[in-house]
Amino acid sequence: MEHYFLCVVAFGVLISAGFLVPPETEAIGINYGLLGNNLPPPDKVISLYKSRNITSLRLFNPNSTIITSLQNSNMDVILGTYNQDLQNLAKNPSFASQWVNTNILPYTKSVNFKYVSAGNEVIPGDLEDFVLPAMKNLDAALQNAGLEIPVTTAVSTQVLNVSYPPSKGEFRDIMTPLVAFLEAKKSPLLVNVYPYFAYSGDPQNVQLDYALFTANTTVVHDGPLGYSNLFDAILDATYTALEKVGGSNVDIVVSETGWPSGGNGLGATIENAKIYNNNVVAHIEKNAGTPKKPGKKIETYLFAMFNENEKPAGTEQNFGLYHPDMTEVYHVDFSS
Ligand SMILES: *[C@@H]1O[C@H](CO)[C@@H](O)[C@H](O)[C@H]1NC(C)=O
Ligand SMILES: *[C@@H]1O[C@H](CO)[C@@H](O)[C@H](O)[C@H]1NC(C)=O
Ligand SMILES: *[C@@H]1O[C@H](CO)[C@@H](O)[C@H](O)[C@H]1NC(C)=O
Ligand SMILES: *[C@@H]1O[C@H](CO)[C@@H](O)[C@H](O)[C@H]1NC(C)=O
Repeated sequence: MEHYFLCVVAFGVLISAGFLVPPETEAIGINYGLLGNNLPPPDKVISLYKSRNITSLRLFNPNSTIITSLQNSNMDVILGTYNQDLQNLAKNPSFASQWVNTNILPYTKSVNFKYVSAGNEVIPGDLEDFVLPAMKNLDAALQNAGLEIPVTTAVSTQVLNVSYPPSKGEFRDIMTPLVAFLEAKKSPLLVNVYPYFAYSGDPQNVQLDYALFTANTTVVHDGPLGYSNLFDAILDATYTALEKVGGSNVDIVVSETGWPSGGNGLGATIENAKIYNNNVVAHIEKNAGTPKKPGKKIETYLFAMFNENEKPAGTEQNFGLYHPDMTEVYHVDFSS
């Protein structure tokens, strides 16, 4: 009996220790988008992640049903705020506290919140001035609640004023104080990286094989560095931009990357989507880093779990690895 009790205690300690200090995060996560009226219930979705050994996900917005389903799931979660809440979060510390009290605090013992993201792809745009103040208020609210969850924002590559060649990467001016905050807080920058849009927007100048990781040779020569894929070139332009404004220690987390499998966009085929996503997963799992940062681990979230029928018509609805009925659109190998 006593022996049994000790075993249970020891087992319990192991579990909670494992939960509080999770083993190193898997490099690959998947975005859990909700803009579909036919998506499976959250518990089925979480089981689907687990069946693929994917233990990290990103939620664009707080949703109590989903966060409740994530309790004790041992998943790492990036939680975003609604873009339309940024102004209020920026102007009212009390609203930021309320946001934390509602969406984070009730779940801290049962959900592993990895980062909080103040908005998605807000810079450049009408709301851009609210991002940093919102980050600061959220950070203060988390600290007041005794929580150490890094606060950041998710940006598109539109934040780059110069993106080519990678060694000339430079942010728009608005990023300077934001990067200083990330550097001071040791928080990462979330970046949405889409070689697809670079290719489909400028096929004259961007080769398909360079976007798909299938070019066998260096396509872009940049001083001593050579690039055979656009994904690495985008990351290195962003690392350069970070360095230029004092963010040499800011990590990049790729908060979205993917390729559409349909929707009539140029190159938007199941075959290309399968090639891109398998290649990006293999590239990340090798921990090869980029030409500028060889060997650097890059936490990366594929976009997205499901095709979402309430997104704008066209390619936007066709980024899912799965159909809403949980059958695969194409197979991605996560096993390496
Ligand atoms: C998940 O991981 C386990 C343990 O490492 C392994 O046995 C299993 O094959 C993996 N499943 C998939 C679908 O990769
Ligand atoms: C939260 O998620 C549930 C389950 O997917 C969904 O039915 C509901 O509409 C979502 N709520 C909001 C506010 O997005
Ligand atoms: C982009 O760079 C140019 C040239 O260095 C500079 O004049 C301009 O202010 C920058 N634009 C933004 C939005 O930061
Ligand atoms: C790249 O190499 C593979 C295998 O060596 C070959 O099958 C393929 O045709 C090559 N692709 C290009 C674009 O040269």
